[in-house]
Amino acid sequence: MDELLKIQEEALGKINDCQSLKDLNDLRVFYLGKKGPMQAAMKSMKDMTKEERAAFGQVSNKVKQDLTAAIEEKKQVLEEAEMNEKLKHERIDITLPSYALPLGSVHPLSMVREELEDLFIGMGYSVAEGPEVESDHFNFELMNLPKGHPARDMQDTLYIDENTLMRTHTSPVQARTMLEANGQGPIKIICPGKTYRRDDDDATHSHQFSQCEGLVIDKNITMADLKGTLELFAKKMFGEKREIRLRPSYFPFTEPSVEVDISCHNCEGKGCPMCKYTGWIEILGAGMVNPKVLEMCGFDPEVYQGFAFGIGLERVAMLKYGIDNIRNFYSGDLRFLNQFTRKD
Ligand code: PHE
Repeated sequence: MDELLKIQEEALGKINDCQSLKDLNDLRVFYLGKKGPMQAAMKSMKDMTKEERAAFGQVSNKVKQDLTAAIEEKKQVLEEAEMNEKLKHERIDITLPSYALPLGSVHPLSMVREELEDLFIGMGYSVAEGPEVESDHFNFELMNLPKGHPARDMQDTLYIDENTLMRTHTSPVQARTMLEANGQGPIKIICPGKTYRRDDDDATHSHQFSQCEGLVIDKNITMADLKGTLELFAKKMFGEKREIRLRPSYFPFTEPSVEVDISCHNCEGKGCPMCKYTGWIEILGAGMVNPKVLEMCGFDPEVYQGFAFGIGLERVAMLKYGIDNIRNFYSGDLRFLNQFTRKD
């Protein structure tokens, strides 16, 4: 028994002094293993009386338990020290200056388009698309603009050949969507996209620009639905205080047709250069879908009505962000584009 207690004392001392996990493991193998001093001391058990053996067994078990516990405790201490050491070496110096990564920015026209998409998708619309190289049939004929119609002059057209052209507006997507629906409503779409006209480029005109068409076809659709929709558009895009004003106008594909103005967001209607001192800004064209268009596109005008609108995306972006030259959108000038870089 003295031998056992001596072994214990010696082992505890070594465990205490031990500096590495590997040494600790060696100690464990040595003291608790089959060839260690404990095992050797146990050999003397065969010469003991029954009582002596029982007492000896108890002490040796206790010694084993104590040593195991001491090793386990030391192991945790050494592991923690090892981890701390590792962390010290792997520490990242976050005060080190890094290279600024040049990030691109969302183009202001894309920002406006995405905002419109979010707004109208939120009202249950879906986004439709159509080709930019369009046939005369869809761009004009089905929009109630037969050949020789004087209103064709309103849209100076870039022709590819006699029957093919660069679409002058996004309205042909109305016809495409209606024909696909086979006379069955409802339809609720917007169509943002590029459009083309034979314009001389200046500060407010561009031969290529962007529109966002809107079309709703259903039973019992009235001008009040159109007005409510456009009012919501004005408030969401230009602020809660905006009001809209409808002025009679003419488009061959809508009847009646309106030109829509919004109260000036720049001067709150008092008068400023942006609204040409009128307090109102012309923003889009709209109207009730002409029954002739409904009919040509496969809908029964006795059953279905609809409204449509066409928004100029450049105009919205120019008003919203105070941009004074349409050419800025297409020049790719970083001095302009970087102003729209995300700051977050
Ligand atoms: N397509 C018309 C334009 O480009 C805009 C518009 C669309 C007007 C839909 C009324 C209804 O001028």
